Amino acid sequence: MLFRLPLACLFIGVAVIAGCQQPDLSDKEKKRLLSLGIDALPPATDPSNRYASDPQAQRFGEQLFFASELSVSGTVSCATCHIPEQGFTDGLARAEVKHNKDTEHPALRNTPTVVGSAWSTWQYWDGRRDSLWSQALTPLEAPQEMANNRVALVRQILTTESYRTQYEQIYGPLNITAAELTTDATPMGSPAAKRAWYALPKPLQTEINTVFANLGKAIAAYQTTLKPPVTRFDQFLQALKRGDNYQSVLSQQEYTGARLFVNDKKTQCLECHNGPLLSNNDFHNIGSATFTGDNIDFGRVLGVQSAMIDEFNCHGRYSDANSDQCLHLNFMNRADLIHTQGGYKTPTLRNVTATAPYFHDGRFATLEGVIQHYITVPDTGQQSEIRTFPLTDKEIRALVAFLNTLSTTNTAPQ
Ligand code: HEC
Ligand code: HEC
Repeated sequence: MLFRLPLACLFIGVAVIAGCQQPDLSDKEKKRLLSLGIDALPPATDPSNRYASDPQAQRFGEQLFFASELSVSGTVSCATCHIPEQGFTDGLARAEVKHNKDTEHPALRNTPTVVGSAWSTWQYWDGRRDSLWSQALTPLEAPQEMANNRVALVRQILTTESYRTQYEQIYGPLNITAAELTTDATPMGSPAAKRAWYALPKPLQTEINTVFANLGKAIAAYQTTLKPPVTRFDQFLQALKRGDNYQSVLSQQEYTGARLFVNDKKTQCLECHNGPLLSNNDFHNIGSATFTGDNIDFGRVLGVQSAMIDEFNCHGRYSDANSDQCLHLNFMNRADLIHTQGGYKTPTLRNVTATAPYFHDGRFATLEGVIQHYITVPDTGQQSEIRTFPLTDKEIRALVAFLNTLSTTNTAPQ
């Protein structure tokens, strides 16, 4: 059997040879692992945003993503929470920003990465937005995020020369003047902001919303360029495809972890964390919701309602899609309470090393903590889709080592 050992092992001492004798992958394992490769990721598409792949919109959107003047205090941008150096997350359990010395605005949930979000049908942990551009509009006005209002934002575009020029080059001439936008207003804001919004003539509301939606489309266009990079796990798969010595690309522990991840007799991971982003883009109840106390959170069940009534959804007047391109909304799972109540979106596991802490409320600081959850799913009194599997400490460490190969920060085999 010596001829089946990876070549590298033959040159190392006898003591190590025993450790090199890992079984080759079966055809089933190969197929499952290859389905996770980044090579298999198709181009991102969004029929509701015709600017998603427009390079000029992408450049404009990049500026907006980093522009703190779009927030009410001029101090918070998308990148304040989605920090590029931290895998486009903030390292906090739950997002928190300050707009001035006196006010703090803790958010209900953990900040997810935006790398790879363009490939996701639903945005947010509860999927309450059905496109990347409709998502981008929400933090601009949310009190816990940028706390601005759409009238002020449109005024800013009109009065900032470089924004105005870029905007008009991409979307055509603006049909509003700053003089029409004297009072801050939004239908999503305080009672006063709402009253001011409904006092505006309908055609002006539509014009403002059109500009607002276009800002979202530019920001989404930028985020569409954020494709997860090739990792050491992908290099392993490339070696596997070429028929090279794939085992030598990963450490023994990482290799064991990769096999555990796709072994449905030992773990269930692949049921939800599948495809090139290691997410099925769907919602699951894994016994992680909190139905009592201060941090009450029902998850997907409320996200369904919100996505349906959002005026910027795929069926809405600001969408570039035809109705028959909005199948995700038409066929959204509305009835299945077990999965929707307490269900959260399966997060991508790409770059997971950089995106701690984990889960919708950031309750786990480490990947070991997450795996422990799966072994001992707490009895929340609600049904969970998780079947428990006993794993040894060694297996837990192997799974964690494998998860770390999905990140580019971890470059060398240990
Ligand atoms: C205060 C911090 C904060 C700011 C500012 C912020 N975000 Fe987020 N972002 C979050 C949090 C927290 C969530 C998850 C909230 C939830 O699921 O309820 C989130 C979710 C997202 C998601 C969904 C990702 C997924 O996997 O579902 C995208 C995309 C996103 N934000 C983009 C943006 C953009 C674009 C901006 C600027 C216009 C922005 N964010 C501003 C904290 C922030
Ligand atoms: C039934 C579907 C399902 C299965 C099976 C499953 N997961 Fe998850 N996973 C999820 C969901 C949903 C979340 C988010 C939960 C939350 O936020 O409360 C999650 C979260 C995670 C996270 C945290 C990522 C982050 O950014 O917060 C990791 C890591 C993870 N899972 C790894 C695994 C591993 C490893 C396995 C197998 C042992 C596994 N999962 C099995 C659905 C699943």
